[in-house]
Amino acid sequence: MIIKPSDEYLELLNKAVARELEVSAQYILQHTKMEKLLRKVIRENYLLDETTYDIIGKLLKELAIEEMKHLAQIMERIYLLGGTATTKPDKIVIGNSLREFIELGLKAEQEALELYRLVINEAKKVGDIKTWRLFTEIYRQEEEHLIKFQDFQEIEEEPDLGETPESEWRKIFNPEYITLLNKALASEISAIIQYTNQHEKAEGLEEMRKLKSSLEVVREKNKAKIISELLKKVFMQEMEHMEKISERIFEIDREALAQVDPLPEIGNSVNDFIELDRAAEDYAIRLYRTIIAEANKLGDIKTKVLFEEIIQQEEEHYWDFDDFLP
Ligand SMILES: [Fe+2]
Ligand SMILES: [Fe+2]
Ligand SMILES: [Fe+2]
Ligand SMILES: [Fe+2]
Repeated sequence: MIIKPSDEYLELLNKAVARELEVSAQYILQHTKMEKLLRKVIRENYLLDETTYDIIGKLLKELAIEEMKHLAQIMERIYLLGGTATTKPDKIVIGNSLREFIELGLKAEQEALELYRLVINEAKKVGDIKTWRLFTEIYRQEEEHLIKFQDFQEIEEEPDLGETPESEWRKIFNPEYITLLNKALASEISAIIQYTNQHEKAEGLEEMRKLKSSLEVVREKNKAKIISELLKKVFMQEMEHMEKISERIFEIDREALAQVDPLPEIGNSVNDFIELDRAAEDYAIRLYRTIIAEANKLGDIKTKVLFEEIIQQEEEHYWDFDDFLP
């Protein structure tokens, strides 16, 4: 039997969602920032350091993927309990050096363990065995994350070489242009959150159907399933976009920001999802057209080509969602 959760209990679970959202974005953006950090390393240390950067870079990507899995599992659980999973991450800080990455990671994992101990206790108290089991497993993994960061605890702070001196070709990347690129990044992060959340909600609807078998839900059954699968496919591609866009910003030696814009919207039914998602793709397409035009004007060919590739996929997403409009 499914328990009737209190608002406080659901709020507690949503704190876990906010954490998982935060760390997934944090680790991915740190992962894409590695090359930029590496370029600032003193030449003599370069060969020696390259390995450390590689190892930590790889680790961060792996952790980000595990955090995304936690995120999905917790969101699904919330929907099954009849709640609504939040779309607001805790504040994301990326940091500027390996040392900072490690410190932020240690802090994040410690905080997660603290919070999840609370969740485990509460779940036990209210007799929510599935949540208890889920968080016991997640807890074990967060402990492993903490230990992995601890392996690098002794890492030394790189001497600060300051800003890279500007050169002629990099002058084209003016602040307004970088703001525009960060807007693209923010829209990818927004889409990722929106689609993951809806995917889990659709899964929840599917589970509910098995439990309730209300006629209304039955009719929506196949649609929920198909859309849920589509969302999964699309959000994997948005993840790639997010990585590529942030990599490009770091590559030209500017700062990628962890913002969420526009605010993700979830909706109440599968039909809502499709409409909101089509609108999200429409927004991205229009924004990316502006970026392509601007990149073309400035002579930033690499960014132009990147967004030309991305916009093709956004158009496919748009039509994928459009196909399912009622
Ligand atoms: Fe996690
Ligand atoms: Fe973790
Ligand atoms: Fe995208
Ligand atoms: Fe898209």
